[in-house]
Amino acid sequence: MMKKLGLLFIISLFLVQCKESKVKDLPVKGLIAESAMVVSARNEASAIGVAILKKGGNAFDAMIATDLALAVVHPAAGNIGGGGFTVFRTNEGLTGALDYREKAPLAAHRDMYLDEDGKVVPGKSTLGALAVGVPGTIAGLFEIHKKFGSLPFSELIQPSIDMARNGFVVTKKQARGLNYYREAFKIANQRVIYFDREWNEGDTLKNPNMALTLERIRDHGREEFYSGRTADMIVDCLQGLGGIITKEDLSKYKTVWRDPVEFEYKEYKIISMSPPSSGGICLEELFKSIDPYDIAQYPHNSEQYIQLITEAERRVYADRAYFLGDPDFVKIPMDSLKSRFYNKNRMLNFTWEQATPSSAISHGNIEIIESNETTHYSIIDTYGNAVAVTTTLNGGYGSKVYVEDGGFFLNNEMDDLSAKVGSPNMFGLVGAEANSIAPEKRMLSSMTPTIIEKGGKLKMVVGSPGGSTIITSVFQNILNVIEFDMGMQESVSSSRFHHQWLPDLIYFEHSFDTVSFASLRKKGYIIDHEDYGSIGRVDAILVMPDGRLEGGADPRGDDSAVGF
Ligand code: DON
Repeated sequence: MMKKLGLLFIISLFLVQCKESKVKDLPVKGLIAESAMVVSARNEASAIGVAILKKGGNAFDAMIATDLALAVVHPAAGNIGGGGFTVFRTNEGLTGALDYREKAPLAAHRDMYLDEDGKVVPGKSTLGALAVGVPGTIAGLFEIHKKFGSLPFSELIQPSIDMARNGFVVTKKQARGLNYYREAFKIANQRVIYFDREWNEGDTLKNPNMALTLERIRDHGREEFYSGRTADMIVDCLQGLGGIITKEDLSKYKTVWRDPVEFEYKEYKIISMSPPSSGGICLEELFKSIDPYDIAQYPHNSEQYIQLITEAERRVYADRAYFLGDPDFVKIPMDSLKSRFYNKNRMLNFTWEQATPSSAISHGNIEIIESNETTHYSIIDTYGNAVAVTTTLNGGYGSKVYVEDGGFFLNNEMDDLSAKVGSPNMFGLVGAEANSIAPEKRMLSSMTPTIIEKGGKLKMVVGSPGGSTIITSVFQNILNVIEFDMGMQESVSSSRFHHQWLPDLIYFEHSFDTVSFASLRKKGYIIDHEDYGSIGRVDAILVMPDGRLEGGADPRGDDSAVGF
């Protein structure tokens, strides 16, 4: 029950924003552009990114501008108080990844969310000051700028300063979300002046303190956030609320360049995020699990298609729970997890006649040799560079702690660490020793920013929010395009489903065709079709055979593709 409740939390989060969304009637043709595009959670942010591309800025410049714009216009997930991952591919085919994931504070310890009886205290890792991890976003954006930026940072941040000061128009879904969290804002903060009101569609939301913070960052750079006035504001705010993040935590924060996970599937090369995200490695395991079955022979979203994907997901998420964590702290058996043989073997006890109960599945048998409310956007520039970025506060508005003087929310990413081995987090994900809490450890993520090549050429940029459902949303969208020949928008609009080993349920979006459910139930599959309004918000770009771009902006949200 606990596990189901955990997962329901994230789903309810999406429900708040998209109860009425009927994926069936949603658009199948996306925006087509000749040479450059940004697809993000809000039109304002996509437009700001595209304005930078039109000025001659590259995809990395546009990334910085879009990211900061999302921090203003989409404060439920866009952020400067959170963290994220970027996967990139340059026009020369050079690939890489930047990790600016939050870290556990120095004073964190493995039992910090347990009571005297060793039980997890509900809410302690999700709501309020103790839930906050040391933010990485600003460090990430400056690191990207240092390596790849071509326009001055001041030019990239200015549109967001202006938008924070002049305001933006609140959408219907956004008003619903803001109102939904009003009580939580009150619990997490000592005083809530700014957000303590009822919001309506069409209201203008201005955030003058955020404008000032962004101006200070413009004028003093990265250090403003990690050791300047903004750092003081964060620490003062958190300490007033019983938090443990110190100036030392902030000043020690560092981003890490990582090698992305790269693998081949048929004629495609898939490039995705490496640990501390589970996204890339789980994606690789999923593709290698289904590869022997020639999935395209089963009609899209048919009973067999659902079975095959569910059984692969069940096994892969069991591995995720056991093996994966911060690679700077734990030894991950990457070679085995990436092996074709290993993943094929994991599927050997799958039969078409009967579901494999999750209770019969554990992590794979690998010998470890000792030595041990998110948002995604996709960008392609006129030069052919591509970036896939997923960034998060974790839950909607993160910990709900609002740094009033600074005008921004802080994450609740600590919940992505295992509060207790085997105890589910807010996405119902269970973790093991590999993801236990330790000072300065990065929490395991599901974020899956992904780039795909075909024949050595850029084919697709994709990613999604949605906690544990991110990996399966990305997986299904890649399959939609490469196995079922869908266009980008058609793929993004298609109904999705999800299984994550525990709880042992297949979650289907409301829009999902129920025809196969009776037969699946007979085979022992447990189906939840009630609780999920929608799964994920996929924002993606497809390079069409003629070289033009098709955007896929997720109609489940306010997402928007802008290009030229
Ligand atoms: O890193 C992760 O996997 C989670 N913190 C992502 C949270 C998320 O996607 C919330 N989205 N709606």
